[in-house]
Amino acid sequence: MTTMKALHVLKNSDLTAAPSTRVELVEKPIPTAGDGEVLIKMAATTCNPSDLAYISGQYGLTTNYGSVAGLEGTGLVVDAGAGPFGDTLKGMRVACSSKISSGYDGTWAEYMVTNANQCMPIIADIPDDMAATLIVNPFTAFSLLDRAEELGAKAVVQNAAASQVGKLVVCVAKRRGIKVISTVRRQEQKDRLLELGAEHVLITSDADFNAQLKALSHELGATVFFDCVAGPDSAAVLTNMPISTTAIVFGRLNTDAGDVLGGHYSVGHMIFADTRIEGFWLSSKLIGIKPEILLARSAEIQNLFKEDALVLDVRGHYDIENFAGAMDDYALNMSKGKAILKF
Ligand SMILES: NC(=O)c1ccc[n+]([C@@H]2O[C@H](COP(=O)([O-])OP(=O)(O)OC[C@H]3O[C@@H](n4cnc5c(N)ncnc54)[C@H](OP(=O)(O)O)[C@@H]3O)[C@@H](O)[C@H]2O)c1
Repeated sequence: MTTMKALHVLKNSDLTAAPSTRVELVEKPIPTAGDGEVLIKMAATTCNPSDLAYISGQYGLTTNYGSVAGLEGTGLVVDAGAGPFGDTLKGMRVACSSKISSGYDGTWAEYMVTNANQCMPIIADIPDDMAATLIVNPFTAFSLLDRAEELGAKAVVQNAAASQVGKLVVCVAKRRGIKVISTVRRQEQKDRLLELGAEHVLITSDADFNAQLKALSHELGATVFFDCVAGPDSAAVLTNMPISTTAIVFGRLNTDAGDVLGGHYSVGHMIFADTRIEGFWLSSKLIGIKPEILLARSAEIQNLFKEDALVLDVRGHYDIENFAGAMDDYALNMSKGKAILKF
């Protein structure tokens, strides 16, 4: 076999269009691995908010239209170019991230070439669903909590908390003794978080939301805010948190500002409440981490998944012909879990 099925990104400048209008199923040659690279026979991959942003041209990387999308996944290393690490990976299951930032094809294909050092061996007996989603969200949840600890926070507030990141934050924070105040939009999202052992979950539309948040964040000493919405609610949350709070902005699920860099923070918070606002992007964070630390964390995450100490909600498994439709469903109700593309 010399060709493979893949999903290419199509340009569609209508920002309200469904994700399925932005991809196209194609047949193309299987790539070959160059120096420092490996060829992976993909087993599974997923679609995260970053993928939706990427295919609609609203991400921090330039979208390569006419190339394969997909930022992370899992598969078997079937070939390697020159280089010692690639050679040791041959025949191994790995979690991998793509090289789309360098113009390469991504994970939404039967085969992918990436850098050997963008692969993490799967050393625990975990299913493909977990291996396919091992990097983006778990590493983000762990890194956000590392930063909160560095900032000396006893507790954190997080929004869109029924997200995969939010659920992982709840699981990991509990193990580290950090209190979490989670905010969500709907009762069913609150119920899911309570099921996972979350202690404090507030619904943003409740009439006394602001009063509850103010009382709880002051009582628990919540001085860090994990914000992946960056909408009008984000500024309201800061108004209710203690002075000298740090907001870590790591996503922009709110789309009403209509521009990629938009947001709703008030300079008043920075001047009068000593609020600090910082960003977090896993892609830059991973570049600075030593390989041995990265692999140790990968092993820690895999073992926690294996012990059921971390949760992953999956809405369903799809083949490549049906994945675009699954993405549309995902975009309408993300809390139902990840759509997994299986090869
Ligand atoms: N900066 C980084 O490096 C990095 C890395 C990983 C993740 N992230 C960000 O982390 C966030 C969560 O990712 P994920 O994969 O965990 O998400 P996910 O599991 O797909 O879930 C997204 C959640 O956000 C909710 N949501 C969507 N739009 C919202 C809005 N405007 N206001 C409030 N809630 C909203 C969804 O609720 P519904 O069910 O109502 O749709 C759902 O609960 C995303 O913003 C993502 O980009 C950033």
